[in-house]
Amino acid sequence: MDKFVIHGGNKLVGRVSVNGAKNSALVLMPATLLNSGFNQIDNTPEVNDIFTMIKLMEHLGVRIEFANHKLHLDSSNISSQVAPYEYVKKMRASVYVLGPLLTRFGYAKVSMPGGCAWGPRPINLHLEVMKKLGADIQLEEGYIIARSKRLHGSKIHFDITSVGATGNAMMAASLAKGTTIITNAAMEPEITLLGNYINLMGAKIDGLGTSTLEIEGADELKSAHILNISDRIEAGTLMTAAAITRSKIELIYNQPQHCESVFFKLEESGVKINIFNELIEIDAENLNIKSVDIITAAYPGFPTDMQAQWIALMSVADGVSSVTDSIYHDRFNHVPELIRLGADIEVINNSAIIKGVKELKGAKVMSTDLRASASLVLGGLVASGVTEVLRIYHLDRGYQRIEEKLKALGAEIERVTTTEF
Ligand code: EPU
Repeated sequence: MDKFVIHGGNKLVGRVSVNGAKNSALVLMPATLLNSGFNQIDNTPEVNDIFTMIKLMEHLGVRIEFANHKLHLDSSNISSQVAPYEYVKKMRASVYVLGPLLTRFGYAKVSMPGGCAWGPRPINLHLEVMKKLGADIQLEEGYIIARSKRLHGSKIHFDITSVGATGNAMMAASLAKGTTIITNAAMEPEITLLGNYINLMGAKIDGLGTSTLEIEGADELKSAHILNISDRIEAGTLMTAAAITRSKIELIYNQPQHCESVFFKLEESGVKINIFNELIEIDAENLNIKSVDIITAAYPGFPTDMQAQWIALMSVADGVSSVTDSIYHDRFNHVPELIRLGADIEVINNSAIIKGVKELKGAKVMSTDLRASASLVLGGLVASGVTEVLRIYHLDRGYQRIEEKLKALGAEIERVTTTEF
């Protein structure tokens, strides 16, 4: 088990590159089950969730090679349509194999994911989509068993915008007979990229990037090669690291427009942001951080995956701010840990009320989930003295050796193997 030991207070300076996005790679990989051939996804991050997805895909019979961020997936010999509990319990994104397996093979058996660290995360919308497209769905012994003849196009309206259910619907509809129209679809860049990828395979998806998608099902799809987008949450985390330490850094990032909602809020807090093609400059030198309220929302709103990091920043801002999570109402496990560092935060329903303090002080804190861990690292970077962040295996699910980037920027942060849990 690893922990981070952080000596806080250093300014950051310099330029680092942001990795490819975890959440797009996690849906592009299952999309390769839609065809029978050699697929390639470039700019794939080396993070543990990707390794879990690799294991699941290999279990299904996909042959995989992964080196230098290039992921090769040969989907020509699928030998199983079953996603066992041992993978799904580790990572909810495993449910992405449901749509492609069902639509290509007429059968999929996928373990139910259960709850997650911050509360329930249902998959009812994924199942409703498959039923609308013509599947019979049974729940048996903790598994979803989906069966169908060829799926057929349908009209799907989401009451709640869901990234995962939109992705699964797009994959399933792309081999269905006829046209599917999805309204109130997710507009996240990761979903738009998925649509582009399926189009490269020969499908016809219109409306990408909008909330209405029209998908003309194909009889067969061919293999394809795609370049993944940069990770907007890693970028947001690093930008917040610059803000909290009042520093100036640069990030190499392939589509900066995806970070706009975070840019706006950072600018409101007083940070200067400059974009030069594929370079983002974040200037927070001598910053007196202003309190800025946020409410998380589906893209293009402020991402829930940046909520914890924003609370860390607001902990040392001037004045009182409120942070409301409208996507995951219970996603506040980082708050008691930030309070251990001296933050003044109260959680009321799905909002955190943060009174900025002059200083955070180092302490031992414990990661509880991926983004919570990131917020504790941010707290440690600005806290006086030493902060130890335990259980960073959560962080390793989604950030590729973030300590190396922070160190390259001048932070004093070490990964240490420990028996502490
Ligand atoms: N929802 C339902 N029923 C469903 C599906 C979702 O009620 O069947 C609800 C959820 O409970 C939530 C809302 O709909 O309130 C949106 O959830 P969504 O389906 O969009 O989330 P997801 O697809 O499970 C992805 C990311 C998450 C990110 C959310 C929201 C991946 C692999 N995961 O999850 O990323 O928080 O979208 O943007 O893409 C992370 O990276 O730390 C992470 C948790």
